[in-house]
Amino acid sequence: MEISVKRGHPQEQKTACLIVGVHAGKKLSSAAEAIDKALGGTLTKLFKRGDLTGAMGETLMLHEAPGTSAERVLVMGCGKIEGVEAAEYQQIVGKAARAVADAGLRNAVACLTELEVKERDTHWKTLQAALAFHNSTYRFDQMKSKPSKKTRCAKLTLLVESVRNAEAERAVAIADGMAEGLNLTKDLANLPGNHCPPKQLADAAKALGKAHKSLKVTVLERAEMEALGMGSLLAVAQGSAEAPKLITLEYTGDAGKSRPIVLVGKGVTFDSGGISIKPGPGMDEMKFDMCGAASVLGVMKAVASLGLAVNVVGVIPAVENMPDGKAIKPGDVVTSMSGQTIEILNTDAEGRLILCDALTYAARFEPDVVIDIATLTGACVIALGSHASGLLSNHDPLAEELLRAGQHSGDRAWRLPLWDDYQKQLDSNFADMANVGGREAGTITAACFLARYTKAYRWAHLDIAGTAWHSGKAKGASGRPVPMLMEFILNRARRAG
Ligand code: BES
Ligand code: MN
Ligand code: ZN
Repeated sequence: MEISVKRGHPQEQKTACLIVGVHAGKKLSSAAEAIDKALGGTLTKLFKRGDLTGAMGETLMLHEAPGTSAERVLVMGCGKIEGVEAAEYQQIVGKAARAVADAGLRNAVACLTELEVKERDTHWKTLQAALAFHNSTYRFDQMKSKPSKKTRCAKLTLLVESVRNAEAERAVAIADGMAEGLNLTKDLANLPGNHCPPKQLADAAKALGKAHKSLKVTVLERAEMEALGMGSLLAVAQGSAEAPKLITLEYTGDAGKSRPIVLVGKGVTFDSGGISIKPGPGMDEMKFDMCGAASVLGVMKAVASLGLAVNVVGVIPAVENMPDGKAIKPGDVVTSMSGQTIEILNTDAEGRLILCDALTYAARFEPDVVIDIATLTGACVIALGSHASGLLSNHDPLAEELLRAGQHSGDRAWRLPLWDDYQKQLDSNFADMANVGGREAGTITAACFLARYTKAYRWAHLDIAGTAWHSGKAKGASGRPVPMLMEFILNRARRAG
């Protein structure tokens, strides 16, 4: 979708749909005011009749707009005029974009950046509007024999005040780059396990490397991982017919001046649970167990296409977790790359087993910070639901920086403690540690396990089990936590530049 920024009078915009906001208490935004005048007072009349209230979440499509150059006017209820909350603004632009998509309209002009949003500027409002429209045109129909014929909105114009033009244009460019990354993340995550084994993730990374000179991509095969001593990662892979891959993407946008941000993404392309097999219902959703990997690839793509002045490394351990004659069994003991031994009490706690070796490997990039992203625990879904990702960290400033990025982008995380008190739940009679810590505090003990491999650097762990995809009727990848990570990286790029 092509998005552009323009100034001008709302009533003079030639478009399939002009979008304006109104507030509760018959208060019109300045664009709505102009449109009301051109329409001969229709909006005022609708307010009087009670067909329009301006309440938050209200949408009203006027299918004719005489006196204006638009074919339709979409009126969005924005609630109190005193200032819209950031989350409400995201709802408004999201709903507007969906209304345009549902109506099958080819183009639209939105006058929504003029709304007052609490603690947010034009850059943010423009970015959010652009992201919402990009998101509304996303479709995953690769697996259908006949793709949907529904018209997709191809062109969006954002009307802004002239003084804000440059700021808004920059925001649209960033949204375009982010949307490219988000679409890759969602496409890979939505692919079923049989169409997206580890090799497919490696190929996607290599394709990125081909498309961007600034990206260096390396893929380690089983033998190379054996030579490195990655006994824990390889243990998970041994029950699958699919070969494991360790994928590395190195982006240098800062000519090596600063230490890199290293992102490590869990890439279990299907998690059956292994010998500790999962129950049948809902098991299909375990194709999403590579959403961490997909978000790392999406971020790398966005960072490279935006050419940001930062150094970022992506590391993706990719395996499939299956039960088989060769598969690991409860009670097996393996040796990780760090030298620490692990008693595998549950083969379904496989994420930490591949991440620990990838995290040990990450040290060779001499990172400034390491952030791992993983659909790690069902316990995180119980604790935080689908609203916040779990965040655990060994470095307070890094945790704060990520929380702030989440808050600002609306892709939020919530911190859980990583106290040593929880570590003893991982005690094992037979090895240095067990791979599970019992029923209590499952998200924390999983992070405690990882913490034993991340002592050499500043590290944060994002448990995205509840946020990376939607279940139910709208089943599909959400693209989270790409927005949070991009906000984090963009901030660092801004500070550096
Ligand atoms: N991939 C799952 C975590 C998961 C479960 C994500 C449900 C989203 C929804 C992970 O590999 C897993 O199976 N974790 C186990 C850990 C347990 C055995 C300690 C879990 O959460 O049940
Ligand atoms: Mn599992
Ligand atoms: Zn898993």
